[in-house]
Amino acid sequence: MSAETARLSVNGPRLVADLEALGRIGRGPGGGLNRTSFSAADGEARAWLLSRCADAGLGVRTDGIGNLIVSPSFDARIAALPAVWSGSHIDTVPNGGAFDGALGVLAALECIRRIQEERPELDRPVRCVVYTDEEGNYAHLFGSSALARGYSRAELEALTGRDGDRFADTFAAAGGDLDEAVATRLDPASLHATVELHIEQGPTLEQLGHEIGVVTGIVALGGGIVSFVGRADHAGTTPMTRRKNALTAAGALLVALPELAAGVSEQAVITSGIVSAEPGSTNVVPGIARVTVDFREAQADLVEDLESAIVAASRSIALRYGLEVEFDFEATIAPTLLDAGIQATIADAAAARGLSFSSLPSGAGHDSQNMAQLAPTGMIFVPSIGGRSHCPEENTAWHDVENGANVLLDTLLRLARD
Ligand code: GLV
Ligand code: MN
Ligand code: MN
Repeated sequence: MSAETARLSVNGPRLVADLEALGRIGRGPGGGLNRTSFSAADGEARAWLLSRCADAGLGVRTDGIGNLIVSPSFDARIAALPAVWSGSHIDTVPNGGAFDGALGVLAALECIRRIQEERPELDRPVRCVVYTDEEGNYAHLFGSSALARGYSRAELEALTGRDGDRFADTFAAAGGDLDEAVATRLDPASLHATVELHIEQGPTLEQLGHEIGVVTGIVALGGGIVSFVGRADHAGTTPMTRRKNALTAAGALLVALPELAAGVSEQAVITSGIVSAEPGSTNVVPGIARVTVDFREAQADLVEDLESAIVAASRSIALRYGLEVEFDFEATIAPTLLDAGIQATIADAAAARGLSFSSLPSGAGHDSQNMAQLAPTGMIFVPSIGGRSHCPEENTAWHDVENGANVLLDTLLRLARD
């Protein structure tokens, strides 16, 4: 690493103040954050971010699906070259934490603010990106999936959120244009590389006592809805032996999930986060029960095995209870190996700043999975206190936030120079 690269550092207090400010938007009574994509709180967070960009004199472009691309001013020759992108997401899971996604966006914003302020000599542009709906209220890694593979109109029209709203309606109400969403793709020729800083969301770095994680790859991700269809009946008059209770079958599937995961591999995980019953009354035997399944595994063929195991178990449970079963699975997102050259650059940057580091895979999904299909991509992790994430207790020490942002800055500057 050149001395010139090492000289530039992020403004730590400004980054911390930004994380604290964004962490107040959408905060619920229990202390968790609720910023589902396209919700009022997500809109407030985006407006706040745009004002921070305007304060710094940065330009912002919104693409057809709502991804934001933030840029310092470069001379026209540089601005036209394939860019280095860095970013993450500002939407959250329900009752989520203040670091997942927000760190990667605000650290990237801080890096390009430093570039805008210091004007280091670069051979290509560096930009900050904010991906739409990373947490997948409508579809897994939604905004980056649009960039990497795109959505057809029929696919977008079929999407619904967890509250039952149609994406097309919510998007239109937020001022979106479905034609533009359908047309959204990113030309890989416009991208030189991407790097995402993220909290680890697990316990490994903390257990090792290491400050920086160099991410080697990201596990495959699948998911969908299993719907058991039985018969709604009176809760008082229908004998237990004559019921077609869909929720009973859903319960049997939930109980079977740990065994199904273990039957595929030691690392495989399956989670059901939402179970709903219809018609949803205390005095009606549920006629329909829907179970979400989220499943992850490092090997591509094994993620298909997980899906098959869930389907086979659901069919056999349905048969046992005399019910029908229907499946609605999303396309699985392939496991991703991150770029070896960028991993080496991140490790060099950490070493040059005297930070301890280790290589590790990501069990969580990230937009980098999609971006790696378009350009060489790397990820940097910083420790999560207690390994907690997707909960209000999610936390990372401020010195780790600043270290991670400095390693990100060094990496971006290295990638932006020949
Ligand atoms: C994203 O947070 C995911 O791993 O689901
Ligand atoms: Mn998340
Ligand atoms: Mn995230």
